[in-house]
Parts: sequence; C-alpha cells; structure tokens
Amino acid sequence: MTVLDTPRLTLRPWTEEDAPAMHVIFSDLEAMRFWNAPPSRSSDDLVPGIRRSVSAPPEFHAAWAVILKETGQAMGFLNYHHREVLNERLEIGYILARSFWGRGLATEAVSAVLDHCFEDLRVNRVEALIDPDNHASVRLAEGIGFRLESGPMRERLKMPDGRFADILMYGLLAADWKRRAASP
Ligand SMILES: CC(C)(COP(=O)(O)OP(=O)(O)OC[C@H]1O[C@@H](n2cnc3c(N)ncnc32)[C@H](O)[C@@H]1OP(=O)(O)O)[C@@H](O)C(=O)NCCC(=O)NCCS
Repeated sequence: MTVLDTPRLTLRPWTEEDAPAMHVIFSDLEAMRFWNAPPSRSSDDLVPGIRRSVSAPPEFHAAWAVILKETGQAMGFLNYHHREVLNERLEIGYILARSFWGRGLATEAVSAVLDHCFEDLRVNRVEALIDPDNHASVRLAEGIGFRLESGPMRERLKMPDGRFADILMYGLLAADWKRRAASP
C-alpha cells in the first residue's frame, strides 16, 4: 500500500501499533457523533478491526494513519471502502483527533487520498456519505469539490445506538478533480 506525502502530513498504512493513538480519536464521543461504529472503549478494542482492515484486499478497502510530520504523532485516520473495481468507484471516510480540527489538515489529507484514488488507482468516482448535521464534513467535502447529488437518503446508515440515519450522497468524478487541478 502506498505512503502518501503532503506538506504537513504523512499518510501511511495503519498497523496494530497505532491502536493507542487511534483509541484517542475513536473514543471521543464528539468526533464519533456521526460515525456508524461505536466509540472504542480501549486500544485493544480496535485491534481486531485493524487486523481485518490490513488483511483486506486493496480492491475493496485500504486505510491510512495520518501522521503530523512536525511531531510524528498519529492524529487521524482515512480510508476507502466499498471499492468496486468493475465500476471504478469507491467511498471514503475520514476522522481527525479533535485537537487538530480547524487547521486545514483534513483538507490536506483527503486531497492526498483523492490524488491517489484518481491517479494511481484510476478510480472514476469517489463518494462521501455525510449526515446533513455534520457541518464540518459537508464544508470539507464541498470545499474539495464534491457535489451534493442526492439525499437525504432515508435511513441509509445504521448508527451504534440502533437509529437509522438519513444521509446525503456526495460525489466527485475524476474529470472534476482533473479540472480542479488545472484551474489556478
Ligand atoms: C470532518 C473533519 C475531518 C474536518 O477536519 P478539519 O481538519 O477540521 O477540516 P479542515 O480544517 O480541513 O476544514 C475543512 C472546511 O470545513 C470547515 N469546518 C471545519 N470545522 C467546521 C465546523 N465545525 N463547522 C463548519 N465548518 C467547519 C473549515 O472552515 C473548512 O472550510 P473552509 O475551507 O471554507 O474554511 C473533522 O471535523 C472530524 O474529524 N470530524 C469527526 C469525524 C467525522 O465526522 N468524519 C466525517 C464522517 S462523513
């Protein structure tokens, strides 16, 4: 799996050794408010999921730990999932530790993953499924160039509390990304 580099960040495949740092992120109820998996209760909680993730074929899924170069700290997580090679599409997910929000770091990290998806994996379409109340994620996606295409799709995701969440479908095409890169 590819290591991705940005001015402030390195994105490298996550490993079991990242479990304590990921626990800081995935145990935060505020950060997990719109995530459709339960918050972690311990680092050990995360290990089976990390093992499943790293053994999943890149034709389906890949996940990166986001490392802040300045300190070497693992402070975020990005993935793609539900990749369909036949249809040249996939979905992305992203989360950063709360103390790093609002510094443009998610924009930087997501852009690197999108470059990888469109240029290296030759994907045609990337999707982001976002809760309408998740204003930070909506703003991030729209700022990067995703278009709102449909929704709210009723009861699209099952949340850890058993509730089904209505979800917006955002899409970004390879052609959109290329156009964006070409514009000043
Ligand atoms: C979504 C998330 C990754 C954004 O991270 P971030 O590093 O703060 O994002 P950025 O600093 O790159 O900001 C991106 C845009 O969102 C805006 N933004 C950030 N937080 C915001 C908030 N709470 N409300 C409204 N806009 C917000 C920024 O101003 C920026 O817009 P701009 O470029 O027009 O100024 C972060 O809030 C997070 O980890 N949330 C919890 C996990 C989550 O919900 N993931 C998405 C699931 S779909």
